[in-house]
Amino acid sequence: MTAKNNIKYKRHTVTAALPYANGPIHIGHLAGVYVPSDIYVRYLRLKGEDVIYICGSDEHGVPITIKARQENATPQTIVDKYHHLIKNAFAKFGITFDVYSRTSAKVHHETAAGIFKTLYDKGAFIEKDSEQYYDEENEQFLADRYIVGTCPHCGYEKAYGDQCENCGTSLSPTDLINPRSMLSGNKPVMKKTRHWYLPLDKHEPMLRRWILESHKHDWKPNVYGQCKSWIDQGLQPRAVTRDLDWGVKLPLEGTEGKVLYVWFDAPIGYISATREWGEASGKDWEKYWKDPQSKLVHFIGKDNIVFHCIIFPVILHAEGSYILPDNVPANEFLNLENDKISTSRNWAVWLHEYLEDFPGKEDVLRYVLCAAAPETKDNDFTWKDFQARNNNELLAIFGNFVNRTLVLTYKYFDGQVPAITDLTADDKETLEQMKTFPETIGQSIEQYRFREALAQMMNLARLGNRYLTEAEPWKIFKTEPGRVQTILNICLQICAGLAVLSEPFLPFTAKKLQKMLDIQPGSWQDGGTTTLLPPGHQVGKPELLFEKIEDAQVAAQVEKLLNTRKDNNEMKGAEPAKEEISFDEFSRMDIRVATILTAEKVARTKKLLKMTVDSGLDRRTVVSGIAEFYKPEEVVGKKVLLLANLKPRNIKGIESHGMLLMAENSDGELAFVTPEQAFGNGSTVS
Ligand code: MF3
Ligand code: ZN
Repeated sequence: MTAKNNIKYKRHTVTAALPYANGPIHIGHLAGVYVPSDIYVRYLRLKGEDVIYICGSDEHGVPITIKARQENATPQTIVDKYHHLIKNAFAKFGITFDVYSRTSAKVHHETAAGIFKTLYDKGAFIEKDSEQYYDEENEQFLADRYIVGTCPHCGYEKAYGDQCENCGTSLSPTDLINPRSMLSGNKPVMKKTRHWYLPLDKHEPMLRRWILESHKHDWKPNVYGQCKSWIDQGLQPRAVTRDLDWGVKLPLEGTEGKVLYVWFDAPIGYISATREWGEASGKDWEKYWKDPQSKLVHFIGKDNIVFHCIIFPVILHAEGSYILPDNVPANEFLNLENDKISTSRNWAVWLHEYLEDFPGKEDVLRYVLCAAAPETKDNDFTWKDFQARNNNELLAIFGNFVNRTLVLTYKYFDGQVPAITDLTADDKETLEQMKTFPETIGQSIEQYRFREALAQMMNLARLGNRYLTEAEPWKIFKTEPGRVQTILNICLQICAGLAVLSEPFLPFTAKKLQKMLDIQPGSWQDGGTTTLLPPGHQVGKPELLFEKIEDAQVAAQVEKLLNTRKDNNEMKGAEPAKEEISFDEFSRMDIRVATILTAEKVARTKKLLKMTVDSGLDRRTVVSGIAEFYKPEEVVGKKVLLLANLKPRNIKGIESHGMLLMAENSDGELAFVTPEQAFGNGSTVS
């Protein structure tokens, strides 16, 4: 991927996907969108570029109204709660948005309705009446997630009107087999309604030229590939309005009860947020969106590609006065402990909880999420890896090098930067290498290769560590004090380089290190010079930059995950729950500890074993369908549980008196349920 170097941009407009305000932020969001975009923006700022970094809460859409209904609250209450939770967590984590707005804000409703109106006036929409599903009991049209039914592709019975979450296919409500209303559970009826459609097909030539021709080489292959496949499959008009009462109202006469489709209004949220920022700070926001010398970059997750690369650009293009994104660096997904992150199953590491559990360790998470970012393929976060990266990389390489350097500077020179006396070939080589880092790291960042950039930053710490270890100043201080001066000067210069170049990745650590060294870097390039620490400069006392993370801390996190996980049984093929029963009903069962005395296969059957058991009350015959899982000789002598008062049944001509309790897994395998200790036969179970 080569950037389009021929364009000289004057400023940068960087957006991060607006998170839905119906749940907190987790590590998947961070690794995919917010950590990389924050690194990118911090780097640009250090370079002295003019940049604004835009985000806010996405507060419309059916999932929010459904959540409100479930919690018996208004949608506004729900979004208020999560908007503040998300905004605070981002700030604490050091994500430095210039503005964090929200789509329920007045400025957004005005901006989104305004753009819709402009397109409408230009005749950019198709207006069409069609029959759509309607819930008569609730007097409501059933858009998107208000309707569920069976997926025509995979048979999953809880597919939504816009997507099947089991197989990932995007659907429209009429694709569903056996559709039901989410509101009443009723079968919906068809009712006529009018909607406005964006004719994506009409813009195909523009999209082909803009994406397929001009961005073939600088967009990530996953992004380019998805766009190409959408375009090649033939674009269709997309409805951009909905019959709902939560959202941006249509700015047209006689359209009560209709709002903009959430994916029409949400990306416009970037523009509204910029406007809010401009109005608050007295800056000209428009040039960030309309001047072709502004470089627009959208950071998103892969499930947002079509909206940012096709639908939103078509809206901007049809409006006519806006620029299109220069790049859309979408990431793949992050898994957690080898399983898909899932809000509904509570399988996630939540940012606000991490910040409480690991105070002062924001940078550790930033580091791990960048090092393991799903840039080119899905990737996995594990707590073991989190611990290892902290202990073996941040602490053992970065922290250790800085600490050794400062301790020695105090030991030999009272904390004053010693002057260089003479440079050996190795010293010169080390200083030469050091100079290359701002450029190398910067190039990787500009190409959205953040893992690579982070690894290069760590290579600077490795360079220092190796240099110091090989030079062994502690062995020669008595004999060659001048040499030790040179060595520590070079090590201190590398520390200063780290204090500058680590800032985008580890902002809290960089601040601490700058304070410790008492330096005020002016720019990114300073990270490769020796001007920050002139001889005689007094540095502060060494403090530890990182702490060891213990086994017990990560074990506790894994345990917390497992304990709070909610298993979505239907997805895994477990039996649906049975109807509730009273304690009385349960206690009518006489369950006893028993021992199997004899066992033999029932002739001409595959599954049946005939056994004699000692129930403590009597000896009796029991027939059980377990022969595929247990051989007769394996079961003799086993302590088992017997449902003793089950009416005798005739099985293949044998009278069976009671039933042995078995566990059955979703693969249909059987296992005995046995008392944990060998209690006497006849002991009761309740
Ligand atoms: N809320 C969406 C999501 O979390 C992202 C919206 S991005 C925007 O997937 F461009 F629409 F704002
Ligand atoms: Zn499906």
